[in-house]
Amino acid sequence: MTSVTMGEGNTPLVESVHIGPALGMRRLMFKLESCNPTGSYKDRFVAAEVARLLRTGATSCVATSSGNTGSSLAAYCARYGLTCAIAVNQSAPAGKLQQMQAHGARIIRVRDFVSDPRITQRVFADLYQFSVARNAPLVVSAYRHCPEGMAGVESLGHELADFAAHVFVPVGGGGLFTAVARGIGDRARVHAVQPARCSTVAAAFIRGDDEIRPVHSTTRISGLAVPFDIDASLALRYLRACRGQAFAVDDEEVFEMQRAMLAHEGIYCEPAGAAAIAGVRRALDRRIVRRDEPVVCIVTGHGFKDPDSIAEAAAGHPDRVVEPAQLTGVLMNIL
Ligand SMILES: Cc1ncc(COP(=O)(O)O)c(C=O)c1O
Repeated sequence: MTSVTMGEGNTPLVESVHIGPALGMRRLMFKLESCNPTGSYKDRFVAAEVARLLRTGATSCVATSSGNTGSSLAAYCARYGLTCAIAVNQSAPAGKLQQMQAHGARIIRVRDFVSDPRITQRVFADLYQFSVARNAPLVVSAYRHCPEGMAGVESLGHELADFAAHVFVPVGGGGLFTAVARGIGDRARVHAVQPARCSTVAAAFIRGDDEIRPVHSTTRISGLAVPFDIDASLALRYLRACRGQAFAVDDEEVFEMQRAMLAHEGIYCEPAGAAAIAGVRRALDRRIVRRDEPVVCIVTGHGFKDPDSIAEAAAGHPDRVVEPAQLTGVLMNIL
């Protein structure tokens, strides 16, 4: 069997040129998971999971996705000849949906899936039953459902182990956090950053107990709206084990950091990809991180994924149409 790969992993680790210095930090780095083949860290998961599917002789699969798992799965299924059907939440961003559709995946947008915990649980139960009855494996990027695929994400932790004292990870369901913490082991402290409007892991950590309480998600950060326990309990365990902290941040802080990444770092990321930096700011304020310590933020997804979130930043720099003869004069006004 040919190996399942499109060159995922070993993504660039680049130094911050503006945000870090502006915060007084000596070494802030960005791990550009947006540079994976389909634009998010999910390619590490999907490459490992599709390898498993092919080994078991599967010819089709069903999946759930808030967007990035679906984009990635659609691409790898197209490449390796699998048919896939993906249940997606209603508000999945256009970039992610188009990616799935362009690769030929069958998309079903399910009303209130993901935002409402009761409906989400019901959809999971229906998909699970369907998957067993039709012998079509269920692909969900979480240890609870697909541990072998998630082990593929642990490479991200291995790649960071020598570079950071602190790693900041955006958290939705908690699988990514768990994978990074497992991959790093005891070589760095790993911190969780979650939207306050969908706080499961962070809420339990802040309360100081072990109970993951389902919430009604109102966050607009695509990918981080997972309102009940998929891998949240597991992530909470690893969070405590690796001496991490949890930060519940406002959506506005995340959008602000996304605009800072675009305008001052040249990094084109989706909102979830900028969430980690919002956590760093909080950690500096609370003196959890010292300004001379090396810190890595995981930039989990590409800006092309979520064009609506980019539109606001772009609106500040409108274009204009000019006659050819006006070009030099206009340029003189700009530069
Ligand atoms: C861009 C991005 N960042 C972070 C996450 C969070 O991963 P997890 O749900 O495993 O916590 C996701 C999940 O879909 C995502 O798409």
